[in-house]
Amino acid sequence: MDIREIPFDQLNTESFIEEQVRALAEAVGDGLAVNALSGGVDSSVVTLLGHRALGDRLKTYFIENGLMREGEPQYIVDVFAKLGVPVEIVDAREQFFAALKGVTDPEEKRDKGITHVFYKDVFGKLVTDCGAKVLLQGTNYTDVEETVAGVKRQHNILAQLGIDTEAAYGYQVVEPIIQLRKPAVRAVGEALGLPEEIYNRPPFPGPALAARVIGEVTPERIALVRAATSIVETELADCGAFQYLAILHEDRVTGLRDGKRDFGHQIEVRCWDSTDAVTGTPTELPFALLRKIADRITAEVPGVVSVTYNIAPKPPSCIEAV
Ligand code: XMP
Repeated sequence: MDIREIPFDQLNTESFIEEQVRALAEAVGDGLAVNALSGGVDSSVVTLLGHRALGDRLKTYFIENGLMREGEPQYIVDVFAKLGVPVEIVDAREQFFAALKGVTDPEEKRDKGITHVFYKDVFGKLVTDCGAKVLLQGTNYTDVEETVAGVKRQHNILAQLGIDTEAAYGYQVVEPIIQLRKPAVRAVGEALGLPEEIYNRPPFPGPALAARVIGEVTPERIALVRAATSIVETELADCGAFQYLAILHEDRVTGLRDGKRDFGHQIEVRCWDSTDAVTGTPTELPFALLRKIADRITAEVPGVVSVTYNIAPKPPSCIEAV
């Protein structure tokens, strides 16, 4: 891999920003660029860098893939409106769920279900419609490293896998933060004037809640994991961990509700201490807090009868389950 990392302690945010803004302006020339904003730290930083370099020659879209957290699309549009960046929501729910139908293999979910629909069907069309030749993308150094090492194919890795985006999708991909790991991306976000609620957000995967449903991804199963995610995120908002999440398991288990057998769903809660997601340790959360989360999930998420907490570190576990 010939990409050089800029370690956090060697990063000068101001000169990094200046350099990337210059490089973006040069790469796009007097044409148009597009980018997809998911609301995560990486795509938020790229949106502001792109906006600084290109102004209204950058079209920013929020792809509503149906896999996002509760209230997410409008929340992100509102945050960026306050920063003077217009964001258009594109409703692509049907396309994503159609592509994910019947798919259970994790890598196939990423590849066929997410990467292909995102880059070709949804983005390919947007790019053609607005005449842009460049797509800005928030790939970071860890994404490249994990994909190249064969740990997991991150949905946004293309060139590093030998995919020629010009030939495959009809546009060039530019990746301004590819030399940075998460802590450095956050520092650049702060320097760009992103609100802290965004630059300090826990990481969230590009394939969104599809990365947290084991087995087939359907609108119904996403609704379950979305409701559990809301509870976990509310209860752990102040716990100081690196990342926390809920996973919907594929297997059902026997439970008991109102004196009757209930063959129900299982939710797994994960909460990680980590600095860069390369390794991680489960956070030693107070047991009373875990119990409160379990009580809320079993009471508020329909059909859930079991809640577990992951206590295995990464490696050999991973942050996400898919
Ligand atoms: P894993 O599960 O590999 O996650 O331990 C490491 C970090 O990357 C995030 N993650 C992803 N992010 N696309 C992304 O954009 C993906 O396919 C993906 N899979 C995992 C994960 O949330 C964690 O912060």
